[in-house]
Amino acid sequence: MEKMLRNFFLYLAGNKTLTKMAKKYGLKFGASRFVAGETIERAVQVIQDLNQKGIKVTLDFLGEFISKESEANEMANNTIRSIKYIGEQHLDAQVSLKLTSMGMDISDEIVMRNMRKILEVAKTYDVFVTIDMEDHTRTEQTLKIFTQLKSEYDCIGTVIQAYLYRSQKDIEQLHPLSPRLRIVKGAYKEPADVAFPNKKEVDENYKKLVRTHLLNGHFTAIATHDDAMIEYTKQFVQNHKIANDQFEFQMLYGIRPERQLELVKEGFNMRVYVPYGTDWYGYFMRRLAERPANVGFVLKGIVKK
Ligand code: FDA
Repeated sequence: MEKMLRNFFLYLAGNKTLTKMAKKYGLKFGASRFVAGETIERAVQVIQDLNQKGIKVTLDFLGEFISKESEANEMANNTIRSIKYIGEQHLDAQVSLKLTSMGMDISDEIVMRNMRKILEVAKTYDVFVTIDMEDHTRTEQTLKIFTQLKSEYDCIGTVIQAYLYRSQKDIEQLHPLSPRLRIVKGAYKEPADVAFPNKKEVDENYKKLVRTHLLNGHFTAIATHDDAMIEYTKQFVQNHKIANDQFEFQMLYGIRPERQLELVKEGFNMRVYVPYGTDWYGYFMRRLAERPANVGFVLKGIVKK
């Protein structure tokens, strides 16, 4: 049943018509539990509130299925606006973005131009940029673009997904770049010929990737809500005397906020991924797919309307 619901929400997440419709109608169905708001002003309030609690942020201006150059340029300009807000208001925040929203599916030239424009501003304001990882058809291209940009800018990192068979090799290949990597389990619907179909195998690979990257001596973001992964990391860094500034825990806005605070109180660096904007639909559907228990919030949201 849980698997069926997961597939259903991942199917809905990929629906372009619903994505477009959702933009028009504002945050609905309890999406505001996971999305900070539709405007940068509202997102800034959320960041300030989290910062006051000792929680760092990575801010994402939501956007999916970009097919026109003008849309990609607008996404890039909005991301630049976020970076300027972060810098000018001295927020403890970074930004995250998706290469498809910067024009990766349109042309190499457009995505590279937008990324360099963003990274120039990020460098000026000393704001770190993480490239999110999308579905497996885009992994190769994303890592290629990341590798090129990392040779030009220091303030850039990316994401490795534990459900992909290829990830251990990718981590080893990226090692010479000393990259700051976020390790996640993976949020897309992937076929069994590219991704581990079982949670147990994904979890084992997750731990292996965390181990590899930490022992390679690089900064590692442990992005998960799973206590088993968190406890494993705590034990591992203690056993190997890895300093607190070589890693951080990351969670998504609205998920396990009390656990986020506990980790801060225990003295760990904690960063929360805060999405905002009108293009909330796909992001929201992937959150529902991860945890069908969240559907209860949706139903309550519908009833309240
Ligand atoms: P998983 O879903 O396996 O759950 C394991 C356990 O964690 C549960 O049994 C429960 O105990 C606990 N848990 C999970 N969700 C909970 C909830 N809502 N409430 C209470 N407990 C809960 N993906 C991707 O493909 N590309 C990307 O770029 C990113 N970026 C990203 C950034 C950040 C900061 C995070 C935290 C996550 C991502 N992801 C991502 C999403 C990621 O791939 C994954 O889908 C989710 O984090 C869910 O997997 P978990 O590791 O949290 O545990």
